[in-house]
Amino acid sequence: MTAATSVRFAHRHLLGVEGLSPDEITLLLDLSESYIKQSRAADKKATLLRGRTIINLFFESSTRTRTSFELAGKRLGGDVINMSAEVSSVKKGETLIDTAMTLNAMHPDVLVVRHPDSGAVKLLSEKVNCAVINAGDGTHEHPTQALLDALAIRRRRGSLQGLTVAICGDIMHSRVARSNIHLLTAMGARVRVVAPPTLLPACIDRMGVEVFTDMRAGLRDCDIVMMLRLQTERMQGSFVPSIREYFRFYGLDYAKLEVAKPDALIMHPGPMNRGVEIDSEVADDIDRSLIREQVEMGVAVRMACLDILTRNLQSNEAAT
Ligand code: NCD
Repeated sequence: MTAATSVRFAHRHLLGVEGLSPDEITLLLDLSESYIKQSRAADKKATLLRGRTIINLFFESSTRTRTSFELAGKRLGGDVINMSAEVSSVKKGETLIDTAMTLNAMHPDVLVVRHPDSGAVKLLSEKVNCAVINAGDGTHEHPTQALLDALAIRRRRGSLQGLTVAICGDIMHSRVARSNIHLLTAMGARVRVVAPPTLLPACIDRMGVEVFTDMRAGLRDCDIVMMLRLQTERMQGSFVPSIREYFRFYGLDYAKLEVAKPDALIMHPGPMNRGVEIDSEVADDIDRSLIREQVEMGVAVRMACLDILTRNLQSNEAAT
């Protein structure tokens, strides 16, 4: 039996990778594979979510995540509404919970939520009747990003087990780093974090990672190099002396990449700041950069998440 038929996804919401079992992660990745095929076909439209309403509720800016959730919902035949805080009553002082209760009264089936505060999406999920997907909450988690990263790696390397993955840059402010650490360690990869001491959260080693402050030491013999953006919007004060200095010591260029495995793959969740955390040529290296594939995998993974969570809604609806 494949994971897809023997494992149940026993969660009403997808709030984080923490707490997902390796079987549940595999189930989502396996299901995503079929949606890659659907997204590459001329006819991309299915009817699985016919009659379902998905609301994208974004309190922070987004290009990839919001668009791919919208495409994912539409490709599965659902009705998708996009709401951003800029043009909603949040601007008029409405609280997160009041906004959630208002939307809940319109009977959505899934709320996809991004919010600048860690924990806000969980709080919201406790107030509504529908399924909630965390599209990034503060510095806490971004589960669909880690799933799409895992899918992109698995398709190139066959498995995550035994790989050495170096996550480099602004670890402190990165929900992508946290979700990836949970996922990769659960799936048997060795994870390193590489950052200047000012951008390393205290006690990060308790997450089961090896910690490096020197890029060459951290990249040595690794299979995957995952670069992160300097998230200045979350910084109060200055965490790096200057952008030039940051690039010199922590920016990924061919000189630093030399110590990684010769076939090491380069990843970045986007948006990229070329010349800050990554050299332009390295980012565009068609043989080694997975960055475009990551975006493609994003739609498939989000289709799989919408599929799984609405299946769970169905069984609850049948039971009541
Ligand atoms: C990331 C995010 O929003 O956390 N982007 C994304 O979802 N692709 C990373 C970032 O903003 O740097």
